[in-house]
Amino acid sequence: MKEVPASGAFRQLEPGPIVLVTTSHQGKPNIMTMGFHMMIQHEPPLIGCVIGPWDHSYSALRSTGECVIAIPTIDLTRTVVDIGNCSGDTVDKFERFGLTLQPARSVAAPLIGECLANIECRVVDTVDAYNLFILEAERLWVDTDRKERRTLHHRGDGVFAADGDVLDFSERMEKWRHLPR
Ligand SMILES: Cc1cc2nc3c(=O)[nH]c(=O)nc-3n(C[C@H](O)[C@H](O)[C@H](O)COP(=O)(O)O)c2cc1C
Repeated sequence: MKEVPASGAFRQLEPGPIVLVTTSHQGKPNIMTMGFHMMIQHEPPLIGCVIGPWDHSYSALRSTGECVIAIPTIDLTRTVVDIGNCSGDTVDKFERFGLTLQPARSVAAPLIGECLANIECRVVDTVDAYNLFILEAERLWVDTDRKERRTLHHRGDGVFAADGDVLDFSERMEKWRHLPR
């Protein structure tokens, strides 16, 4: 094995799919791209995510305590990268990227119509030292009719792997049958 800088650990441990996070602050919707997130608990469903204080979305999330995590598919790759390279401070990203806002049910932040799934979330805790938000997923919307379902997995620097083969070993998950499906 060849040793490489430990700062590259995230490339090996990449979490779930790249996501978009929407917020709505003082009536103004915004979107950012996010790779640093993880599931923390099944019930109630808790998600940890790291959002830097330099992001417009950070202050929106701190003041409203609400967001939507939207899951894009590979047809949106260019948009996903571009959304993560401009700021809601100066750009109306819904307009620039031609994305469709759809009203959420429990939060003011909008769903993104072009995404495979949207999760309405509320902040239940923060760990300020790491800009870590603990979100509770309150509602989940999935576009069951969508043909393209391959998600994006970030390898760093704007390089992604597309979701690939599905290996279904669910019949062996005996210890975990009680978990929500
Ligand atoms: C592929 C990708 C992944 C990103 N992941 C994160 C992340 O996990 N946390 C974060 O704070 N910013 C992340 N960013 C950067 C933000 O999306 C970026 O700073 C964005 O401009 C913030 O927008 P805003 O200022 O409108 O909130 C990522 C950007 C890209 C392109």
